[in-house]
Amino acid sequence: MNILQINASARREGANSTKLADQITGRLKASHPEATLTVRDLATTPVTVLDEAALGALFTPAEQRSAEQAAVVAEYDALIAEIQAHDTIVLGVPMYNFGISSQLKDWIDNVSLNQVTFRYTANGPEGLLKNKRALVGFARGGLYRGTEADTQTPYFKAWLKFVGIEDVQFVYAEGLNMGDEANKAGFATAEQDLASALASL
Ligand SMILES: Cc1cc2nc3c(=O)[nH]c(=O)nc-3n(C[C@H](O)[C@H](O)[C@H](O)COP(=O)(O)O)c2cc1C
Repeated sequence: MNILQINASARREGANSTKLADQITGRLKASHPEATLTVRDLATTPVTVLDEAALGALFTPAEQRSAEQAAVVAEYDALIAEIQAHDTIVLGVPMYNFGISSQLKDWIDNVSLNQVTFRYTANGPEGLLKNKRALVGFARGGLYRGTEADTQTPYFKAWLKFVGIEDVQFVYAEGLNMGDEANKAGFATAEQDLASALASL
């Protein structure tokens, strides 16, 4: 097992989503001591925003790219090589304004590349990140699990399937901003989710 842990908070210190990702990775390492771990913290090392310049770089044929454009594409290539090189992806995902952090969206935009991590065929889209599992930890100030306001769970189900990752487990730490007791209870629930997730590994 080789684990890629993505810390997706906007915060470098004190992030609950990072604490949750550490909890997931800690359990994985405990049950698979041989596992290797790579941690990518998107607050400490932000990735390129998918803006007009980045799109221009991606759509310019390699031999015609400027040095600046080549550097942008090299960053995309490195992030994709990183996810390709790992079999277990752990995501520590904060809920911000009913969605994900912009840092995490930037990373998803970087690693979702046509013909590389997915492609369209006559039968529809085909994900190209094969033989991987994902454990997605959601850290939330409030309580949204199982409600319509949980936009994150369907988003990750759709995106992970789109890029070919079908073995997906979700872990929820909720109510984290609702007082100390609720915060503790939120992480305790996550621990239970994790126990069920790991039972199937
Ligand atoms: C800008 C911002 C927006 C937030 N929006 C929500 C929200 O829509 N729903 C929610 O349950 N919690 C919300 N929270 C609380 C976070 O989910 C909470 O702080 C949680 O710990 C994850 O963030 P962290 O990993 O940065 O700590 C928000 C926090 C911030 C800073």
